[in-house]
Amino acid sequence: MSERTFVMIKPDALSRRLVGRVIERYESKGLKLVGMKLQIVPRELAERQYAEHWDKPFYNDLVSFMTSGPSIAMVWEGPNAVEAARTMNGATDSAEAEPGTIRGDLGLTAHRNVVHASDSLDTAKWEINLYFDEAELFSYAMPDEGWLGVKV
Ligand code: CMP
Repeated sequence: MSERTFVMIKPDALSRRLVGRVIERYESKGLKLVGMKLQIVPRELAERQYAEHWDKPFYNDLVSFMTSGPSIAMVWEGPNAVEAARTMNGATDSAEAEPGTIRGDLGLTAHRNVVHASDSLDTAKWEINLYFDEAELFSYAMPDEGWLGVKV
């Protein structure tokens, strides 16, 4: 079943010139990029995105960090896209993330952990709607879609 998930490349990744390497991971996996936006996230938007963590000790640092510089919001589509992106990102704390995952290979801490991805299909729908208008999302076919009846 094809799904859409919400992924962010965080400000630490942009300041470290890791954007291309991060996007390459999702592309190579076979996911399809259907939405993309570079912006400095307004504080109010970051607070809404991370509202579930408002009582956590790291909340203020998290919101300050996420609004400290440009980040890239993306929507990736494909079978099991939500779980695929979470697995590829690795554990939240980069120090505990397995080698081969994005955080395991490119991150060092929980606070500067390179990427974010939705933790469920419901969260994905909510986060996509928070960051994108419908007109900013694109449906298109890849050359390999439909090949031998296999839909990517
Ligand atoms: P993210 O996937 O964006 O979701 C919540 C974020 O809070 C998480 O990645 C981390 O960047 C940040 N964070 C910082 N410290 C912690 C922590 N101890 N546990 C969970 N998340 C943390």
